[in-house]
Amino acid sequence: MLPEPISRELCQKLDAADPLSAFRGRFQAPQKDTIFLDANSMGAMPATVPDRLASFCTDAWVELRRQGWNHFEWMERPYQIGQSIAHLMGAQPDDVIACDNTTVNLYKLLTYAWRVRSSGNVILSEDGNFPTDLYVAQGLPNALVGEPTIKICNSRDELIDRIDANTAVIYLSHVDYRTSARWNMADICQRAKEVGALTVWDLSHSTGAIPVDLMGSDADFAIGCGYKYLSGGPGGAAYLWVNPRHADAAWPTICGWMGHENVFAFATQYAPHTGAWRHATGTPAVIANEVFSCAADIWRDVDATLLWDKHKQLGNLLIDTLEQECAALGVTINTPRNYDERGGHIGFSHEGAGPLCEALLDAGVVGSFRKPNALRFGLGALYLSYENIWETVERLKHILNTESWRQAKYQKVSV
Ligand SMILES: Cc1ncc(COP(=O)(O)O)c(C=O)c1O
Repeated sequence: MLPEPISRELCQKLDAADPLSAFRGRFQAPQKDTIFLDANSMGAMPATVPDRLASFCTDAWVELRRQGWNHFEWMERPYQIGQSIAHLMGAQPDDVIACDNTTVNLYKLLTYAWRVRSSGNVILSEDGNFPTDLYVAQGLPNALVGEPTIKICNSRDELIDRIDANTAVIYLSHVDYRTSARWNMADICQRAKEVGALTVWDLSHSTGAIPVDLMGSDADFAIGCGYKYLSGGPGGAAYLWVNPRHADAAWPTICGWMGHENVFAFATQYAPHTGAWRHATGTPAVIANEVFSCAADIWRDVDATLLWDKHKQLGNLLIDTLEQECAALGVTINTPRNYDERGGHIGFSHEGAGPLCEALLDAGVVGSFRKPNALRFGLGALYLSYENIWETVERLKHILNTESWRQAKYQKVSV
């Protein structure tokens, strides 16, 4: 708990004592006085990206063309990125690989989990899972993967109640993309183990923000996107993780040449690479990986414990400041207050959330609106300051006090 009342001066003191403050300089600051609170949607750009891309264009593509594969590390990037972010999710470096997009990786690992399961025929999920996750599961009975029954539960309690000997796979987003409610990963993995089921986790709203401990929780599979908290760039590669105990259990769902044990042998016969790397498919997205690789250079230097601690302090500060300054103005926090139960973003509700979000954009605060009445602020702990939190709430309070959000120009709400 912070001493009351919270003030700009208190936030400045917290900034002065922030052990991660030097990381702010490793991201490109916006020219305008904008506070970006959309790390849950798109993380900030690493400052090295423009030079890296310029060099890619001239030094590599123009001057070297196909020799670029030999002179630069384009083939190694998927593994290097995986190795650089593994510590943020409690994984061993070689068990993570950056490739494809989240949806494709969900398909690859959910089908793999289905094939290596020990028993059961039900894939259990909940309606708080992200839509693409649910669609991938719903599409499985049409694909050539046996006959899974897909059960999408309406509440977390229902899901827990339904875990039984018929459960083959428990398939969840670690953090709810709307409410930021976090599952207790270790608890669910334990319940899965008791009935012989496997777990598949979507970490898109977790990795790079909150503590994740895949090995310590004894999870089976995980997937996540690169473009949110990880700052891997719009449209960049997603990542996947396979618990080593399953890594060599079966061929991957997509047996691509990049997952072959010896890609340049150009063998007729497929033979899978060892470990998670067999889930690489085709040619890596070289340009996008150059961008993600700039973020990976930063993540390699980040002490995960310090990152998680700062994220927690930023979230607590935001909740407390919103309550102190805006509770009387109709703002109600709708994310769990207990840090162990929440994810990367803080949400609150207000009767005018949509127009409020537009008015905030005009005031230089970028959050996101979710119907019917919620606003979400995603916290990128490497580049946000404590004073940013204070300033955000000040701008919000001004909009609420003046009721400027009611103006006609803010009534058309963007996504
Ligand atoms: C939890 C979660 N999973 C998956 C996705 C999207 O996956 P993809 O990268 O395939 O678009 C999102 C997008 O916001 C997401 O929030």
